[in-house]
Amino acid sequence: MQLSVIIPCYNEHDNVRPLFAKLVAALKGIEWEAVYVDDDSPDGTSQEVLNLAKEDGRARLVRRVGRRGLSSACIEGMLASSSGVFAVIDGDMQHDETVLPQMLKKIEDEGCDIVVGSRYTEGGSTGDWNAARLGMSKFATILGNVLLKENKTTDPMSGFFMLKRELLDDVVHGLSGEGFKILLDVLATSEKNLKVGEVAYTFRTREFGESKLDARVLSDFAMLLFDKLIGKIIPARFLMFVTVGMIGVLVHLGVLGLFNQVLDLKFWGAQLIATLAAMTSNFFINNIFTYGDRKLKKNKLVWGLIKFFVICGIGAIPNVLFANYLYDDLGAYWLLAGAAGMIVSSIWNYSISRYFIWRAN
Ligand code: GDD
Ligand code: MN
Repeated sequence: MQLSVIIPCYNEHDNVRPLFAKLVAALKGIEWEAVYVDDDSPDGTSQEVLNLAKEDGRARLVRRVGRRGLSSACIEGMLASSSGVFAVIDGDMQHDETVLPQMLKKIEDEGCDIVVGSRYTEGGSTGDWNAARLGMSKFATILGNVLLKENKTTDPMSGFFMLKRELLDDVVHGLSGEGFKILLDVLATSEKNLKVGEVAYTFRTREFGESKLDARVLSDFAMLLFDKLIGKIIPARFLMFVTVGMIGVLVHLGVLGLFNQVLDLKFWGAQLIATLAAMTSNFFINNIFTYGDRKLKKNKLVWGLIKFFVICGIGAIPNVLFANYLYDDLGAYWLLAGAAGMIVSSIWNYSISRYFIWRAN
């Protein structure tokens, strides 16, 4: 086996066979297999792969249950195969499989450790993207390259690349595995000076199914940046949680001002409403961004909100006690004492809610 093509898919039922046919045509003369990694899609993607595998043994399935995530799917797909070279390609035919042989050549004959399918090198293109998506992608590309001291590429956000097994083995314990940015993760994690090749391609329009890239992908990306920059010291999720908490402070002050200053409600009443409003908005923002991969819905969402109130309510006690101790007993400056109290309750709120509300299964 020369090449394992790893194909992350979620709700890609209609793309399974057409993509395979394209691989068959593109990879003539190469010993290859296709590993579809499906996160138990409701549309029956897994079954479709199994049907295909009955007809052609080069098609294989890794089915993950109760899990989601593009990066982790790619990593597990690679770990489940035994070839010396892996390609990662989207399961929706937006990547151009016809350049795979060129990529393989760069690895086998030119000694590259990794080859990036790039939209931003000469000859490549993002196809029919609108200005907004192009702008975001370019911005993310710049941020991505900030992270990469060495091992730079014109398209660190690409989800289309090929690498040697040795490189995977080298970085696998250090990968963040969060979100969409698997290539950036690999390049940023490697401590070696890699030989990075590039092959141009044009991003195609999706024919079947829909994109899973949403607002969450942005926060995933922010998390990956956090994680790679300071993740060894402070967990990325905690930083995200604290960032959301700061937005909560703004919500709190805004609501307090509205009820007390504008609507003339008594201060304690306005403060109470502001506190509830801030907790509620923190809860929902955390549910979408900090824990987008474990998002609560329906009943669990309501229960989660109630638990969040209780947890934050309890968290306020050590906050006040500690801040008061610093201020009264140690004579700390009021701002410092107040901020220290908030840090204490943030750590409490984060640790407890992570366990009782957004628990990983
Ligand atoms: N197993 C699994 N689990 N696969 C997933 C998941 C998941 O949670 N989320 C998405 N996928 C699969 C999709 O089914 C598809 O095959 C592939 O990953 C890419 O997802 P899309 O939702 O089609 O992403 P996109 O086309 O908007 O984004 C592409 O372009 C970006 C560059 O701008 C991807 O290639 C990104 O990786 C790339 O960064
Ligand atoms: Mn796509």
